[in-house]
Amino acid sequence: MSRAAPSARTLAAKTVLGVIEEDLSLEVSLERVLAKAPAPLRPAVRSLSYGAIRGFFRHEAVLSRLLSQPLDSIGGAPQVILSVALFELEDARSPDYAVVDAAVTSARALGLNKLTGLINAVLRRYLRERKTLETDLARNPIVRHAFPEWMAQRLRTDWPIRWTQILAACDRQAPLWLRVNPQRTTDAQYLEQLRAVGRQAQLAPGVAHAIVLEAPCEVEELPGFAQGLVSVQDLAAQCVAFPLALAPGQRVLDACAAPGGKTALIAERQADLKTLLAIDIDASRLQRIEQTLARTGSRAQVLQADVGLPAQWWDGEPFDRILLDAPCSALGVIRRHPDIRLRRRPFDIDKFAKSQAALLRAAWRMLAPGGRLVYSTCTVTRRENHDVIAVFLAETADATLVPPDSWEGWPALGESDGFGMQIVPGEAGADGFYYAALSKQ
Ligand SMILES: C[S@@+](CC[C@H](N)C(=O)[O-])C[C@H]1O[C@@H](n2cnc3c(N)ncnc32)[C@H](O)[C@@H]1O
Repeated sequence: MSRAAPSARTLAAKTVLGVIEEDLSLEVSLERVLAKAPAPLRPAVRSLSYGAIRGFFRHEAVLSRLLSQPLDSIGGAPQVILSVALFELEDARSPDYAVVDAAVTSARALGLNKLTGLINAVLRRYLRERKTLETDLARNPIVRHAFPEWMAQRLRTDWPIRWTQILAACDRQAPLWLRVNPQRTTDAQYLEQLRAVGRQAQLAPGVAHAIVLEAPCEVEELPGFAQGLVSVQDLAAQCVAFPLALAPGQRVLDACAAPGGKTALIAERQADLKTLLAIDIDASRLQRIEQTLARTGSRAQVLQADVGLPAQWWDGEPFDRILLDAPCSALGVIRRHPDIRLRRRPFDIDKFAKSQAALLRAAWRMLAPGGRLVYSTCTVTRRENHDVIAVFLAETADATLVPPDSWEGWPALGESDGFGMQIVPGEAGADGFYYAALSKQ
């Protein structure tokens, strides 16, 4: 007799296990599981996996209250089965009994026969006590919004007034933002094309080419996506155009370019650059840049290179503009990548800050006198944003700040930290992002 095919819940549990036990990103873990999953199950696996990961730390708090033994002692697989089930019970789209039965079936499918009784008992106790439990746990915003304690405390230190607002924003699903390609169409024409296929959308106030859809959809359903009329890019990421101040004839380096979202934006906004060089250290991600450029009909040179080691690849001709979209803790994009809450560790913030400072020093050497470097991150920690810029300016004699109030066209978004602009997650529907601009004397 053939064994029953795994259910969406079992596949979601395997996906979440890949994140917590192998430190895979949620998308990589999903890709691995979905490659072997029957097509009709895929949307459910995706939504259960995201739901379980989004609520993971809240579920952990619930389980700690319901179990008579320490949570660590039950092991990773039972915990993720319970997390998938708790997400479904919170979500309330399936009958409670079906969710409990399915969790027990998943436990068997994953070879956890001895733990089926425990899983059944914990979920039934949750259903009996859920009102009191939810009221108790909701009092603490860190638990309510499912954050690890250290990360929430870090945000609290950096954002003493706005930290709970930031936690709440990270806990909501992000809208779908599009970037219209002005080389291929106009904002008005594209809005019309969207309306013609029944999709409601709006232009962002003060940010040309940025459109938000009322209801997210698959990119293939967007008119003209394959022809490069639009790309998916968050509003905050699109704001990079303002501090960069692109002009014809410039030599531009996109120093941390993959997957190429900002490279394509640069090429679309200024088609008459002398050079646009997009580099990234990760060879496996370069292909994504090439694909985006080909789809949008944009031109750039793409090179695998380490911005920290210019001697290995730079021809010595300085750049007029450098974008350093540095690797960071990415706490500004948690709503899109909820696994960041599970995969980051407290010491990562300092580690990123050190490497950001080193990349900034290396990139600076390639900037022409009179040129401008834009430093950006998709995070909201002061250590990786304000402090990196403050230290760099203090130690670099030929660097001057280009203050945000001089960035032409910058919209009513973000707050100044004395150096750059910090957009916090959820503000105007945008991701959390940081920009600072520096010019060379
Ligand atoms: C935040 S992502 C860039 C996102 C990209 N700018 C976009 O808008 O699509 C950071 C990138 O920096 C790259 N990176 C990290 N260290 C690097 C280095 N030393 N030199 C060049 N690229 C590096 C990573 O591989 C990663 O692709």
